[in-house]
Amino acid sequence: MSVVLGIESSCDETSAAICIDGKIVSNIIANQTIHEQYGGVVPELASRVHQQNIVPAVHQAIIAAKITKNQIDAVAFTRGPGLLGSLLVGTSFAKAFAIANDIPIIEVNHMQAHILAHFIPDGDKAIPPFPFLCLTVSGGHTQIVLVRNYFEMEIVGETLDDAAGEAFDKTAKILDLPYPGGPLIDQYAKSGNPNAFQFPEPQIPALNFSFSGLKTSILYFVRDQVKENPHFLKENMEDICASIQSRIVSILLNKVKKAAKAYQIKDIAIAGGVSANSGLRNGLTDLAKTEGWNVFIPKFEYCTDNAAMIAIAGYFKYLDQDFAKQDISPLARMPF
Ligand code: KG4
Ligand code: ZN
Repeated sequence: MSVVLGIESSCDETSAAICIDGKIVSNIIANQTIHEQYGGVVPELASRVHQQNIVPAVHQAIIAAKITKNQIDAVAFTRGPGLLGSLLVGTSFAKAFAIANDIPIIEVNHMQAHILAHFIPDGDKAIPPFPFLCLTVSGGHTQIVLVRNYFEMEIVGETLDDAAGEAFDKTAKILDLPYPGGPLIDQYAKSGNPNAFQFPEPQIPALNFSFSGLKTSILYFVRDQVKENPHFLKENMEDICASIQSRIVSILLNKVKKAAKAYQIKDIAIAGGVSANSGLRNGLTDLAKTEGWNVFIPKFEYCTDNAAMIAIAGYFKYLDQDFAKQDISPLARMPF
């Protein structure tokens, strides 16, 4: 039996999970609500809350898995990318836990882990076959990744400025919605008309993305409309959100279509926080029918940041006995 403890602390979620023989048996996530009042994650506050949450999160993950800490064989932790202070909390905890229990540590790349969440067994849910393409969309990244094997991944397209999650969160801020605005835009969009307002699609070469122009066009659009009607936002929130979401989704899916053609791949996955978006999930499912793709959409709990994905990535490295040394440091930027 192999038991891997996974630790995630790259942004504003403190999470701990236990993976036994490749199955996730517990996944505890402590969210940080303190950032809402600031309209975004405040790095220094995030690391302080991680310090408060990490021990209880690990403790609960062990209890929920019905094991004792002595049964854990290795600790996998997010080395990067992310906020350095936040990563430092998880990394330091992993090292200390490993020394105290005389077990190895395993470094995990957060963006690879988002993709590897697809390999968490879940009933008869299909697992993507290699090679596949994954659109990884989160608060900090937007990438199209060619996944050849568990740790053989190549970024074939990425954003030149804002990430898709940032596009959601920053436009939500323009609409006076609290942070994080992505899920709220999704919620309002459900009862809105996606064709009510037209926002431009940027013409970016190759498989890359850009969202900063869209954000600016929404800013000017809202400013002009509110000048004419101070109640414009309140009266049109559903239609505005549906129109913005529809444009972000079409920007993403048009590039996925291009990538699928370029690489002749029909197995397409999505991952990361924005893969929880219902417009993206439905849009991808519809597109799959016309393109003849097999699509892989993660379970909601494995879309946004969680330690289950770190634990499963750690499990695959554990099988290879791919361990890190105790002098390892976290990395704010971390290539594959
Ligand atoms: O992967 P994640 O939890 O953290 C990072 O690694 O960044 O992604 C967080 C991002 C945030 O920008 C959040 O607004 C977005 O995912 N998000 C959504 C939805 N749920 C989370 N965006 C749109 N629709 C959603 N339902
Ligand atoms: Zn993430």
